Amino acid sequence: MMTLTHPIPFPGFGALVRLAFPGGRVTPRLCVESNPDGTDDEGILPFYHQSILLDEVVEALVPGPGKLIADGTLGGGGHTEAFLRAGATVKGIDRDPEARVHASQRLASFGNRFEAVAGCFSEMSELARQGNWGGLDGILLDLGVSSHQLDEGGRGFSFRQDGPLDMRMGNTVVTAADLVNGLDEARLRQLFWDLGEERSSRKIAAWIVAARARQPFKTTLQLADGIASLLGRRGRTHPATKVFQALRMEVNDELGELHRFLNEAPGLLKPGGRLAIITFHSLEDRMVKQAFREASLAQLDRPEWPAPRPNPARVYRLLTRKGVAPSAEEIARNPRSRSSRLRVVERLESLSAP
Ligand SMILES: C[S@@+](CC[C@H](N)C(=O)[O-])C[C@H]1O[C@@H](n2cnc3c(N)ncnc32)[C@H](O)[C@@H]1O
Repeated sequence: MMTLTHPIPFPGFGALVRLAFPGGRVTPRLCVESNPDGTDDEGILPFYHQSILLDEVVEALVPGPGKLIADGTLGGGGHTEAFLRAGATVKGIDRDPEARVHASQRLASFGNRFEAVAGCFSEMSELARQGNWGGLDGILLDLGVSSHQLDEGGRGFSFRQDGPLDMRMGNTVVTAADLVNGLDEARLRQLFWDLGEERSSRKIAAWIVAARARQPFKTTLQLADGIASLLGRRGRTHPATKVFQALRMEVNDELGELHRFLNEAPGLLKPGGRLAIITFHSLEDRMVKQAFREASLAQLDRPEWPAPRPNPARVYRLLTRKGVAPSAEEIARNPRSRSSRLRVVERLESLSAP
């Protein structure tokens, strides 16, 4: 688990949303879609993603007949399949058309109990309104990218396979190459520090600015191999890991998506409905932990108050005091689960409850 050495305050994490090209925002916060590029036509679905904390998520959301669950990060459809098998109806949202195509094929046998929905989870209220979903019994977010997205060189997320320096999950406008070639040195440094927690962010930003003056960055390996030569580190973790994480998070506005969703979530759930979020690094986990805590404290206390007061913003009961981590067995089976944490809350029956 990464440790947060330079916390970004929440809400209003500031630095990253101020990252901008001179005169403009970095990422247009539009969730438009690109065309599906299709999967294999022979009815055989290639490996897509291994679901993380599957049993723990099912236990948390208690899917069953008559229950309506929104999976805000459909991906390969693994968690959704478990909800469907338990008898629930599921709306599976993903901003990536490849994920929706894959999951729709995988889950076709569940008929109209499953619907793949195009969009971002930050837009869930609007999607629910348009689709007349009504209140939800459960919501899952399993943040980040799928193994399929990471491993497909052509998507530009991989520092091991060459591809265009892209990193868009959906069809937002700005790519990783735009950031690497367009941000000034100070903004690059800030980006790698804030979102990647990269200790060598200053050195890497300076190298990028010098290198791109000779030749703009176009491919993933141009960047990844260059960082590896610059830092000369050896070990299990590729030296470009943190830079790639920072670029991916900024390209897809991942913290902004989560922040907007957390504000909307209480209004989406039925009383007694549950929200489960799996995070993969400390910035996300901190944001979820803080939002859940603030919305579940029964009482607030301040040094200047004579006595604690009821929390007017209380909407949840906290079901996981500490984040749930994967078992040693799961980590051995799936090393990508290593840094995951699951946090769960339940919407209060009555919002005026003390
Ligand atoms: C880790 S995978 C989910 C895997 C899935 N739970 C499973 O069991 O197969 C995350 C998925 O969420 C999607 N995603 C990430 N951020 C999103 C957002 N803000 N809105 C909608 N989909 C998003 C990604 O495109 C990716 O397919």
